[in-house]
Amino acid sequence: MDAYTCIISKRDTRSYADKPIPPDALHRILQAGRMAGSAKNSQLWRFVVLEDRERKQELASCGQYTAHIPSAAVVVAVVMPKEGRDFDAGRAAQNMMLAAHADGIVSCPVSMHDQDCARRVLGLPEGHRVPIVIAFGFPPATPRAPGVPRVPLEELVRRGGW
Ligand SMILES: Cc1cc2nc3c(=O)[nH]c(=O)nc-3n(C[C@H](O)[C@H](O)[C@H](O)COP(=O)(O)O)c2cc1C
Repeated sequence: MDAYTCIISKRDTRSYADKPIPPDALHRILQAGRMAGSAKNSQLWRFVVLEDRERKQELASCGQYTAHIPSAAVVVAVVMPKEGRDFDAGRAAQNMMLAAHADGIVSCPVSMHDQDCARRVLGLPEGHRVPIVIAFGFPPATPRAPGVPRVPLEELVRRGGW
């Protein structure tokens, strides 16, 4: 799959095959996150990897739309210190999801609405937060329905000013 196809065909998927992600595939995903650019190359993100079902279940209780977390093969929490930027976290997260997609692994970003809960479950040090969690897994036997449409380009793009 070329880069453009990978980017435009990525859809967030919330159900997964009951199949583990091999260590080399997980390594590629994390490596893709690591290589994201960040403001002043600060690289403040840390990636907490959860594979244990009980721990994933606990983390699911920290968000409002998290029903798919426990069945994901791997969950990666992107953790930032106070001064870390959400934009940087987003770049790392998207890198991981696109690298996974290129390897046939589906994913979905998940918000942690209760940050205290996420901090406690992940055992984070003081002053850290979780801008996003990503659920990864192999696609289910029945592929998901096509995604919601996107805003047409004509509506999005303004040329020469607003
Ligand atoms: C910052 C962010 C937070 C999100 N949080 C959740 C979430 O908590 N639960 C969830 O199921 N999906 C979550 N999503 C996924 C969005 O619902 C998804 O990107 C959007 O509906 C487009 O889906 P599609 O790519 O499958 O068309 C989140 C996405 C982003 C970018």
